[in-house]
Amino acid sequence: MALKNRFVASACEDNLADDRGWATNAVIRKHRKLAEGDVGLIISSHLSVQPSGRTRIKQLGIHNDQMIPGLHQLAKAVHEAEGKIVFQLGHAGLGTKQHVIGRLPMGPSGGQGEMDGGEIRETIKAFGRAAERAVIAGADGIQIHAAHGYLINEFLSPFFNQRRDDWGGSEENSFRMLGSVIREMRHVMPDGMPLLVKLNAHDHTPQAGITPPLAAQYTERLAAMGIDGLEVSCGTSVHSPWNMCRGDIPVKEILQNLPEERKARVEATLEKIKNKFEFAEGYNLEHAVLMRPAAGHMPLFAVGGWRHLRDMEEAVAKGATDLIALCRPLIREPALVRKFREGKTCKASCTSCNRCLMALAGQMPVRCHLRS
Ligand SMILES: Cc1cc2nc3c(=O)[nH]c(=O)nc-3n(C[C@H](O)[C@H](O)[C@H](O)COP(=O)(O)O)c2cc1C
Repeated sequence: MALKNRFVASACEDNLADDRGWATNAVIRKHRKLAEGDVGLIISSHLSVQPSGRTRIKQLGIHNDQMIPGLHQLAKAVHEAEGKIVFQLGHAGLGTKQHVIGRLPMGPSGGQGEMDGGEIRETIKAFGRAAERAVIAGADGIQIHAAHGYLINEFLSPFFNQRRDDWGGSEENSFRMLGSVIREMRHVMPDGMPLLVKLNAHDHTPQAGITPPLAAQYTERLAAMGIDGLEVSCGTSVHSPWNMCRGDIPVKEILQNLPEERKARVEATLEKIKNKFEFAEGYNLEHAVLMRPAAGHMPLFAVGGWRHLRDMEEAVAKGATDLIALCRPLIREPALVRKFREGKTCKASCTSCNRCLMALAGQMPVRCHLRS
């Protein structure tokens, strides 16, 4: 796939779908704006492959055939603006709530939600069927969401996965879920259609999950399977969101979403951890560099914390990252890449205040909530 530049809009869930998970005009408008803003590669918001894999009520879905026409409109809007769009497919695993999916969240281990072999195979098939729908809808490629503590990350991580059967207990077994999903998808994707993966280099879970040495082993397997691009991220949405999205912890906004009786305790905890997550430019780059030798010729790119054009150019020039993936900066300025190109600015105005992330958690439409 030829891209017009090295900028990537990293996947960004947005609560803009309707209550069934179908695409709306707002979803289409958001992605079209990114294409009009000259982003080289747009990765869609996270699409659920099964109803049990929905993160939120208004998450966009790809779990039934009726969703295809809306997704086709989405791809068409991006193509009309001369953009390229990769659909991000995933399953929330344990990273969702019972009231969203109407059953207990599913994962590799842990009580009633523990998946049996049949459920695992059904989910792998669902990834394949979702990939077929993505192809019909006109996506230019597919990215598997294997990061941020969702289902595939859970299988890969020794923190979440305590199985001792074919699906856990060793590095080889823990990779089986992702490997099987890749094979199932490749089966239905046309030759030459890019398949990307987003992987955590570090889970930052309370006990060790994926850490860089294990991530490097997985990277080697992905390269051997011919994956066309690896996006490197970190953190989990439930256990370590402030590692995933460094910057401010918007205490006031978090407390607003909570019942009165929980506020005081949560406020005390947040105040304690508030300054622990230092923001650094391109904060996943160091780990991406560690994974590079295992990647061979597979393109590898770091997401997280890119704000200054100078730093982005430097990282690309020294071969540390092949592409520059941005999420929050493009929520605030969908035309940022065009502004860079036209020399109108050399830095994103996003302050990483993380109010967009709070909007997502609070079931509100994701947009920039910075007051200025
Ligand atoms: C509001 C919001 C929604 C996000 N949705 C997704 C998503 O759907 N899939 C995903 O892989 N990452 C998602 N992320 C994580 C981003 O893709 C990215 O990894 C993270 O924000 C760090 O990059 P940044 O500093 O450029 O924002 C989301 C982040 C935010 C703030």
